[in-house]
Amino acid sequence: MTEYRTIEPVSALRGEITVPGDKSISHRSIMLGSLAEGTTRVEGFLTGEDNLATLQAFEAMGVSIRRIGETSLEIEGRGLNGLEEPNNVIDCGNSGTTMRLMTGLLAGQSFFSVLTGDQYLRRRPMKRVVGPLMQMGARIAGRHGGELAPLAIQGSSLQPATYNSPVASAQVKSALLLAGLYVDGETTVREPHLSRDHSERMLSWFGADLRTFDGGVTITGRPRLQGKDVTIPGDISSAAFFMVAGLITPGSELLIRNVGINPSRSGIIDILQAMGGQLELLDQKNPSGEPVADILVKSSVLKGIDIGGELVPRAIDEFPVISVAAAMAEGTTTIRDARELRVKETDRIAAMTSELSKLGASVEALEDGMIITGCEQLQGGQVTSHGDHRIAMSLVVAALNSTTPVTIDDTECTETSFPGFWNLLKTVEQKS
Ligand code: S3P
Repeated sequence: MTEYRTIEPVSALRGEITVPGDKSISHRSIMLGSLAEGTTRVEGFLTGEDNLATLQAFEAMGVSIRRIGETSLEIEGRGLNGLEEPNNVIDCGNSGTTMRLMTGLLAGQSFFSVLTGDQYLRRRPMKRVVGPLMQMGARIAGRHGGELAPLAIQGSSLQPATYNSPVASAQVKSALLLAGLYVDGETTVREPHLSRDHSERMLSWFGADLRTFDGGVTITGRPRLQGKDVTIPGDISSAAFFMVAGLITPGSELLIRNVGINPSRSGIIDILQAMGGQLELLDQKNPSGEPVADILVKSSVLKGIDIGGELVPRAIDEFPVISVAAAMAEGTTTIRDARELRVKETDRIAAMTSELSKLGASVEALEDGMIITGCEQLQGGQVTSHGDHRIAMSLVVAALNSTTPVTIDDTECTETSFPGFWNLLKTVEQKS
């Protein structure tokens, strides 16, 4: 059943919050913890639906994963060659990361497996990982010549390869690095701009032989990975909703504690600061090879800017909420080089253009981005999330600042990446 929520405008957002753990790092902690020898202890794991799909997939391949409380795990690693053939299809749910990374990881196993997903994931392009993996010798079949899931993977022996990816995609890069673990020799991936580098950092943390260089990364196959303690920071992509909400709602001040600020993910901070947003990074640390800080947000008058190039992959999941900031900024914001937004959980260019327009914003869709002209205030109305978690939460941020309430259709999808979103929002909302 589709869940509707009506969001009332607020007068300010004030207080101190902690957002749940990073989704990308949580996926990788299960994958590498399972392939390592010995025990991996994970703190700050995100128990969103996407990560639970990954967890269940590894349980289905014989990995013992003990859940301790809400956010801690103990994974008994089975070593690089210890996974067992799953006796059923693996359901990746809505999670592109689960499906693409596992396609790489499963390609070099000695068994057969099938990956499927929900109606949204079964529409997303998979050739971007299937194509280069097949060049390495992988045997993968899928609908539309391997472009669409379900994907059937017959594990086989893989050859060393160098792949120049036409897109800056961490999922493509990571799929090939995980396949590269099973290669006798080196696997190199180059990308046009640096995409998030959590795989590189965590592979090194677990002891893999990996070298990064300007424009790419090389991994040497058949390492012995060692179980490790992993402390996962708060997800900057979840913090982003509160950053933008705090900036555009007058009289707000929010302290967001323990947020991951890895430079390959922190484009949202650079973009909001360039728009005039007051964001301060406090108490910077570096546990488990990932930088972390508290972020102090104070409401600010934002101005429109031009966004493109290397900033785009560094903020790729934040464009829905950036478009809300732009709709409330003075002047025009232009987003270019962001064609990838068309193949996310939904077409995020089309979705934000149609939904923000319903709230009175002036938005023009481009093939690879958007042109948004700011207005003083958005109006109330009825919108839909298109079943996409980040569209849903971005529309909530817009609704907090509209003249009258906004009803959002299909809001249960926030569970994909941000369990507890609604309750956390309640703790900081000020109503006049
Ligand atoms: C992710 C990579 C990005 C991002 C996604 C998570 C990852 O996708 O949009 O939410 O964990 O590797 P692409 O690799 O398709 O850019």
